Amino acid sequence: MINLKKFRALEDDDFRILSVTESLMKRHEFIPLGEIIKFSEIRKDEVVFRIRNLTKDRFLSKPVRKILGYEGYQLTSYGLDALALRALVKSDVIDAIGKQLGVGKESDIFEAINSKGTRLALKFHRLGRTSFRQTLRKRGFVAEQTQISWLNQSKLSAEREYSALRALASARVSTPKAVKCNRHIVVMSLIAGTELKFAEMEDPKSIAKEILRNVRRTYLRAKLIHSDLSEYNILIKPDGQILIIDWPQSVDIDHPNAHDNLCRDIRNIISCFRRQSDLKIDLDNTLEYVKGNLRNLTI
Ligand SMILES: Nc1ncnc2c1ncn2[C@@H]1O[C@H](COP(=O)(O)OP(=O)(O)OP(=O)(O)O)[C@@H](O)[C@H]1O
Ligand SMILES: [Mg+2]
Repeated sequence: MINLKKFRALEDDDFRILSVTESLMKRHEFIPLGEIIKFSEIRKDEVVFRIRNLTKDRFLSKPVRKILGYEGYQLTSYGLDALALRALVKSDVIDAIGKQLGVGKESDIFEAINSKGTRLALKFHRLGRTSFRQTLRKRGFVAEQTQISWLNQSKLSAEREYSALRALASARVSTPKAVKCNRHIVVMSLIAGTELKFAEMEDPKSIAKEILRNVRRTYLRAKLIHSDLSEYNILIKPDGQILIIDWPQSVDIDHPNAHDNLCRDIRNIISCFRRQSDLKIDLDNTLEYVKGNLRNLTI
């Protein structure tokens, strides 16, 4: 994760250099120093001085010289964090960032606060962390763009999650409220709750019903399938409300893997309740219920 002290010490010209590097990454794998100077419109000696600090603080990668024959730089994940956080602060979405709430395979979750004192959650999508093959297996969409970099994959993943959360809000599915997306960061409402896996369930039957009601809404109204539904991606608040999180891999109901993904999601819920509370839920009935062919679900 980005070093916040070093982030705070960055000046406008540093951001300008990072931002120019980011946009040039569409054209080059390693950005030549000359291009950074040209597009940032900052004096050469000033750029050289700032780049030295930016690489030392790991906002830019160390120059790659030998192979290329020229000095080439890349934005690092810290550099991307800095650009996204600065944009969110400048546009008044957040005021400060707080403690880390979670570490996923492909994300970091942090608490943040806005100028009104409202607490928010920031999800930093980080797709380079797991192998390309694993990502491909989990989310069909990496295949669509072969040379896509970790940077673009992370941004794409955040955009997917953000647009899913928006669609789900319109469908009145119980999820965190999406506030804003910038680059690879999704800002959403902070949920004070426990993952289903670790929650004490007083009334497991009504919790299971509530979860499946939301899966049905997701399918019938938002026309989406979560595709990674499990006891880790459902939060339960102290008042018993459930929220489904972690949506970047969701697919449309007409996606080729839709049926398989839906079956897997429902099986995960069924086995979670069998393990945690001895509740038996029928797969076929549940599938019919979620798809709207059954009006009520009896558990
Ligand atoms: N809006 C939120 N409010 C509070 N805590 C959250 C919120 N979103 C996520 N978390 C916490 O962070 C953890 C990780 O978040 P999430 O499941 O979205 O990503 P992930 O686990 O990295 O994804 P993956 O399943 O690919 O590993 C969650 O299990 C939860 O404990
Ligand atoms: Mg998760």
